[in-house]
Amino acid sequence: MTNRNIKVSPIAGALGAEIHGVDLAKPLGNETFAEIRKAFDENLVIFFRDQKITPEQHLAFAGRFGAFDIHPFAAGLPDHPEVLPVIKEADDSGSNFGGLWHSDVTFYERPPLGSVLYAHDVPAYGGDTMFANQYLAYESLSDGMKRMLDGMTAVHSATRVYGNTDTAVTKFGAGVKSMTVRTGDDADETMEHPVVRLIPETGRKALFINRSYTLRFSGWTEAESDPLIDYLCKHAIRPEFTCRFRWQKGSIAFWDNRCAQHNALNDYHGQRREMHRVTIVGERPMAIGDSDRAAAA
Ligand code: SIN
Repeated sequence: MTNRNIKVSPIAGALGAEIHGVDLAKPLGNETFAEIRKAFDENLVIFFRDQKITPEQHLAFAGRFGAFDIHPFAAGLPDHPEVLPVIKEADDSGSNFGGLWHSDVTFYERPPLGSVLYAHDVPAYGGDTMFANQYLAYESLSDGMKRMLDGMTAVHSATRVYGNTDTAVTKFGAGVKSMTVRTGDDADETMEHPVVRLIPETGRKALFINRSYTLRFSGWTEAESDPLIDYLCKHAIRPEFTCRFRWQKGSIAFWDNRCAQHNALNDYHGQRREMHRVTIVGERPMAIGDSDRAAAA
């Protein structure tokens, strides 16, 4: 399909493309929507510049791709709970929200399709977001490693980030007062997902583990799992699998949470950054054998 309504300009070899020619404050025609969806599937993260959207318009755009998710631990805007403000004030210290390599809320049974992040207020420099292509992470492994991982599942949980112990959030909360983020015993619940997931739209396999939420491989202890998880998490963010997005006020990033990880860089101390995030519900991750089972049914 040749694009008739948008222009797609890749920003890196691995993933990421800027989309030109669309005003997201206006409703999308079906053809433009289909072109944007194709660019999303092909580039894993797409960016728009110079947009001016209200929370309602933000929700209208994201809503074309699926139902909204409400973050279980971080509070949304009072009038629009589906819009999560991601804020670091100039006098906040310590960590920032999303400031490590991760995929969002993979402890859900149905982790998100993706998120649409809109820049309200950006630092003069710093505060870029990085993304890493998890198709490339999988495809560049050895055949032996792929064969082993293809059949494995992993246990995910929010406990390390949102648990009631000395977790990332308790440390984060001490430094960042501008967001309402809670901890809770419900963070200890676990969910199993395939380590390698098949993305139905592309037919490609993506590595699906991350440092924030993957605790261990199913049937393995944490001590047994840690070295391999550590290796895979380092491998997954090799520089040649990444792109880096420099924000301006009015920029939007829409990432595919199924096959890309992201990391909000925390290098702008003393400056304010405010983003609004809308997250779209996804499907239960498909394991490699699931497509054969679906075809046989
Ligand atoms: C997030 O992980 O949702 C935050 C991304 C960002 O602030 O760049």
